Amino acid sequence: MKATYKTYFVYYVLISSGFVNAFEPISTTIVVGAGVTLGLAALGRKIYNHLHESCDSKWIAFNSTGLKVALDQKLFGQHVASRVVQKAVTGFMNNKNPKKPLVLSLHGWTGTGKNLVSQLIAENIYKEGMASSFVHQFVTSTHFLHSSQLENYKSQLQQWIKGNVTNCPRSMFIFDEMDKMHPGLIDCIKPYLEYYENLDGVSYRQAIFIFLSNAGGEQITQVALDFWKAGRDREEIKLQHLEPALSLSVFNNKKSGLWHSSLIDRSLVDFFVPFLPLECRHVLLCGMAEMSAKGLKPNQDVVNQMARELVYFPKSEKIFSVNGCKTIGGKLDYYT
Ligand SMILES: *[C@@H]1O[C@H](CO)[C@@H](O)[C@H](O)[C@H]1NC(C)=O
Ligand SMILES: *[C@@H]1O[C@H](CO)[C@@H](O)[C@H](O)[C@H]1NC(C)=O
Repeated sequence: MKATYKTYFVYYVLISSGFVNAFEPISTTIVVGAGVTLGLAALGRKIYNHLHESCDSKWIAFNSTGLKVALDQKLFGQHVASRVVQKAVTGFMNNKNPKKPLVLSLHGWTGTGKNLVSQLIAENIYKEGMASSFVHQFVTSTHFLHSSQLENYKSQLQQWIKGNVTNCPRSMFIFDEMDKMHPGLIDCIKPYLEYYENLDGVSYRQAIFIFLSNAGGEQITQVALDFWKAGRDREEIKLQHLEPALSLSVFNNKKSGLWHSSLIDRSLVDFFVPFLPLECRHVLLCGMAEMSAKGLKPNQDVVNQMARELVYFPKSEKIFSVNGCKTIGGKLDYYT
């Protein structure tokens, strides 16, 4: 009914304004008018694309220097993760014909920088960073809370991935709290991570999938603790020291058996990225960085005081911050 009213109204306005009559005999005017209109439309589209994010190189352009600088300056205490992420993302973005989408699985204790790394990747690919309409973030406990809704979540998620990659092949999907995700939901994502040239006419090979989870955090911490106890430098820890811990916890542990080894071909995940537990000195760096980010003058005394009141583990040695750098923003508000 509404539509009909509107149509009548528009018609009435056109007739009463003489607009319809004016069109009739003069066909040349229409042709010229059409040409102008097309020109204007093209110009309009240009202006629109200039102002509104679109799936092109103006809005999506990888800055490898930018990523390196950001990781060096903003991510603290993660020499292994930093190197793996740089190598993985740069290699993928420079590859004109990737055979599969990029799949990163980030592992480690809370507050160690997994979210920060996803953000830095997004910021150095998409001009709009995390606010880009081509970056999609899902948090298990927010988006997929009710296991009774599993079937809905599955079809919705598949539609979203397909729809968004159809709109823009260079789409990025971040899944947070993977360790809490229902295995059925993980399974429904798997086809998109494959080597298929296309799936129902859509190619996913330009897309980026990032999975975040706490799975493996304990095992990674054990490696870091062993190094510390042996009096070895943290920077001596290499990816190969952490890989056994990772694959054991990620594939074989019943509780955090994230990828359910029987169901997934591990080659679908291109890189498992370990995040080390953070020490007090890293928390201090986070604190100073957070103060400048808030527009405050970095103040070592304030940051020291804040870091002193955080909780550290293991109980006897008190080496690693329980919450990493996670709660620092709020704590600083309290001390300043
Ligand atoms: C890439 O990042 C570097 C370092 O942050 C920055 O100086 C440079 O302007 C960026 N390049 C582009 C094209 O944005
Ligand atoms: C893209 O993903 C978002 C969720 O991030 C969803 O709301 C939207 O409907 C999806 N778009 C398409 C075209 O499927």
